[in-house]
Amino acid sequence: MSPLHVTRTLPEDATGAALRADVRRGLTAEPKWLPPKWFYDARGSELFDEITALPEYYPTRAEREILAARSGEIAAASGARTLVELGSGSSEKTRYLLDALTSLAAYVPVDVSESALVQAGEALIAERPGLDVHALIADFTAPLDLPPTPGPRLVAFLGGTIGNLLPVERAAFLASVRALLAPGDGLLLGTDLVKDERVLVRAYDDAAGVTAAFDKNVLNVVNRELGADFDPDAFDHVALWDARREWIEMRLRARTEQTVKVPALDLAVEFAAGEELRTEVSAKFRKAGVTRELAEAGLELTHWWTDGQERFALSLSVVR
Ligand SMILES: C[S@@+](CC[C@H](N)C(=O)[O-])C[C@H]1O[C@@H](n2cnc3c(N)ncnc32)[C@H](O)[C@@H]1O
Repeated sequence: MSPLHVTRTLPEDATGAALRADVRRGLTAEPKWLPPKWFYDARGSELFDEITALPEYYPTRAEREILAARSGEIAAASGARTLVELGSGSSEKTRYLLDALTSLAAYVPVDVSESALVQAGEALIAERPGLDVHALIADFTAPLDLPPTPGPRLVAFLGGTIGNLLPVERAAFLASVRALLAPGDGLLLGTDLVKDERVLVRAYDDAAGVTAAFDKNVLNVVNRELGADFDPDAFDHVALWDARREWIEMRLRARTEQTVKVPALDLAVEFAAGEELRTEVSAKFRKAGVTRELAEAGLELTHWWTDGQERFALSLSVVR
């Protein structure tokens, strides 16, 4: 069994410095916001996995249905020898691709969550002794330095995570993915689709309160890492559909007027009663928009697969 290779491409204090910069920028902005990547400490990654099993959270099941039905076609179209997965988390659905890609030599999961990467990587090498797993602790919104594994490469970005990037960030991200691809490589992209507002809102505000706990976990991260004194119970989780921008927003709404201290930043943050802090955007897509955004990044959509209820899509695109 080959060992799990783990590479940290972030400089030692990169995470701390980036968190401090994001928290200062987001909590002093009007309206206040925080980027979603800070949800995913070990507890946040566990909570996300719980979300994927909730009855209201259809995206994981819909994407799994597509992967179960189409991985053979995906493998035949890509012929990949290296599978790079951005924001791989538990790599759970990835197993369909790993089974189908019969010439695969290496799997490169990329995530900011070290705990999720190591846990998933160790499970995979135990299951698949012949597979080289090079786990990369990295931020996929920054330039990636991939290991020199054999091509062709298939870059997978599943879970609809691309929807967490704002449109301008998405364009930069897709251009940086394009830069990783050579002729013959491909991008497999999971996008959640526009649908009935009630279905969407329920997926981000479940009855058991798991998504609320996930949302509030970002406050625990800021408390632990920056010595802040957020009281998570002093905020309510809110999920809203923005019909114009076609995205869900998760927010934390202050129950009362309060001041939160962030000692590491020498910052006191005032919240009015009812004031909201945006913690995540989750954009929903249509085929025309995905095709256009890929084309603007120099990629040509060659395949578009949806689940039976047309809730979610997987697309394959190649370098133009
Ligand atoms: C919505 S989850 C999806 C996980 C998995 N791909 C799935 O489909 O179930 C997003 C994943 O991306 C990771 N992530 C979020 N922002 C990231 C970033 N900027 N760079 C690297 N990983 C990131 C999180 O740690 C998490 O594992």
